[in-house]
Amino acid sequence: MNARGRNRPDIKDEDEDWDDAGGERDDLTDVPGGVRLQKVLAAAGVGSRRHCEELIGAGRVEVDGQTVRRFGARVDPEHQVIRVDGKRIPSRQDVVYLAFNKPPKVLTAMSDDRGRRTITDFLGDRAERLFHVGRLDYDTEGLMLLTNDGELAHRLAHPSYEVAKTYLADVPGPVPRDLGRRLATGIELDDGVAVADRFRVLEQAGSRALVEITLHEGRKHIVRRMLAEVGHPVGRLVRTTVGPIKLGSLRPGATRDLTTKEIGELYVAVGL
Ligand code: URA
Repeated sequence: MNARGRNRPDIKDEDEDWDDAGGERDDLTDVPGGVRLQKVLAAAGVGSRRHCEELIGAGRVEVDGQTVRRFGARVDPEHQVIRVDGKRIPSRQDVVYLAFNKPPKVLTAMSDDRGRRTITDFLGDRAERLFHVGRLDYDTEGLMLLTNDGELAHRLAHPSYEVAKTYLADVPGPVPRDLGRRLATGIELDDGVAVADRFRVLEQAGSRALVEITLHEGRKHIVRRMLAEVGHPVGRLVRTTVGPIKLGSLRPGATRDLTTKEIGELYVAVGL
């Protein structure tokens, strides 16, 4: 289910076959000229109209903190905060949330005066002005989130909300048994100690090893610097997760819309 697909229904069209009847009364004040709640839910990718009505009827939908039980309640999807089972849904029509698999040798920027390839080269004719959430090094590959939701982007990049990120790193082996413990205890770097949340060796073959490291850190070159400091300089580096979002099988250079569930999980991760 895609929340932000380009072919999503236009929430503004006046589709009068939505049923105003049904459900119980509640105290929510209808927004004059607003959109029916079940229509907002369906357009956000929560499910079919029928499913959305069931959610409303079951008291699982809140608008600005108030449980709504009427099927025809009219809301303002641009400004009101709508939650299903306590999780915020992306109700604004103008916001876009994308996962991008950044290939190596691509600059984390929207343009470059030195003519290097940038994220913009992979976005086709998208009209929205997107921000990249955080950065990956020129040579690093993998998951980047792109959005025009400034508040979410800001929080995801802010140290106080730092979400966990996981990387696969190709390093010289063999990797000693106590490396995970050392990384979890903290590695002294020029700009302070860096700590890994998790570390494991996925493969060891000949003189190379493939390791997975998870950390909350956002400092520049942090994974490369940590692993170099413990004697395992990184060759290839791929980011596989950002908070609840996984790279999965997304091809290098490709983008996909995040699902409604993923967007809800991102909101939770940054307290929105
Ligand atoms: N750590 C690095 O060393 N490089 C990145 O691009 C991201 C994290």
